[in-house]
Amino acid sequence: MPSDVTEASEGVDEAENVHYEETEEDDNVSPTDLSEMLKEGTKESHDRAENTQFVKDFLKGRIKKELFKLATVALYYTYSALEEEMDCNKDHPAFAPLYFPLELHRKEALAKDMEYFYGENWKEKIQCSEATRCYVDRIHHVGQYAPELLVAHAYTRYMGDLSGGQILKKVAQRALKLPSTGEGIQFYVFDNISNAQQFKQFYRARINALDLDKKAKERIVEEANKAFEFNMQVFDELDKIGALLTEEAQDGGLPVHDGKGDLRKCPYYATKLGKGDPGCPYHIGMAMLKQPTLQFVLAACIALAAGIATWYVM
Ligand code: HEM
Repeated sequence: MPSDVTEASEGVDEAENVHYEETEEDDNVSPTDLSEMLKEGTKESHDRAENTQFVKDFLKGRIKKELFKLATVALYYTYSALEEEMDCNKDHPAFAPLYFPLELHRKEALAKDMEYFYGENWKEKIQCSEATRCYVDRIHHVGQYAPELLVAHAYTRYMGDLSGGQILKKVAQRALKLPSTGEGIQFYVFDNISNAQQFKQFYRARINALDLDKKAKERIVEEANKAFEFNMQVFDELDKIGALLTEEAQDGGLPVHDGKGDLRKCPYYATKLGKGDPGCPYHIGMAMLKQPTLQFVLAACIALAAGIATWYVM
């Protein structure tokens, strides 16, 4: 495991000889430092992201395997776009100091997870969801037309992955009974970062060293809040899919509609995801039947109907 970032990644001036493990905690943070502005300026978004139903359920270990697989698919498309744009902008002065492909890039790790979950021909089996597509489009737009905002997207994802992501890794492994050898959770494993805390400190220092005026910094904070928003949209979409998944999906089988067929072929399924459609009557009916209050009301109605019928016959 390389401890020296200069040995491991491109995009760093060798003469600088930066050792991230030696970067000390900086107590003299200034509110005008971009890393501080990002932390403060996205606090509210972070709280909201942590409190989305999908994330709350995930933290409690309440995640169906099929949903975890779909979340991994969303990450695959997101990081493919992000890392493609970072590769294209690796020499751009507004991004070059933050280019750490060996330490941070997740696309290859996600490809391994995809193969584990979907088999060798995984590329034919996955598709980009509507919410993920919006996120991906924004990343490409930024990469092509406003590369100085890429830092916002890199910050939101990688700093998060090195923080809360590490908690999610353990939860997923336990809840989904994934192998302890790491299959299926490669996304959360940063082989080339030996100390996440120190790397984050080093990355913050790099963010602060970017040559940016106040207005540009504010635009980056605004973009980071957008990045959080895109993530929340993906979580909400996953949450809606999760509500439609049957218990069978818990074991990793394809979600089924009524014991026959694939949920994704349900005509109501696609519309439900994006357009706030009321949804498939079968799934709504099944979900409602699981509510104890409704079960009670239904039982009372049946008893009443039986009573009326008996009275009528007599
Ligand atoms: C599972 C829920 C989450 C938990 C438990 C969690 C936890 C944490 C913790 C403890 C930190 C502080 C790390 C440190 O200061 O070293 C942190 C930072 C961060 N998290 Fe999260 N997080 C969660 C979800 C998210 C999500 C969904 C995102 C964005 C998509 C995100 C993005 C970030 C970012 C960007 C930071 C860095 C803040 C900074 O120091 O500037 N987190 N998270």
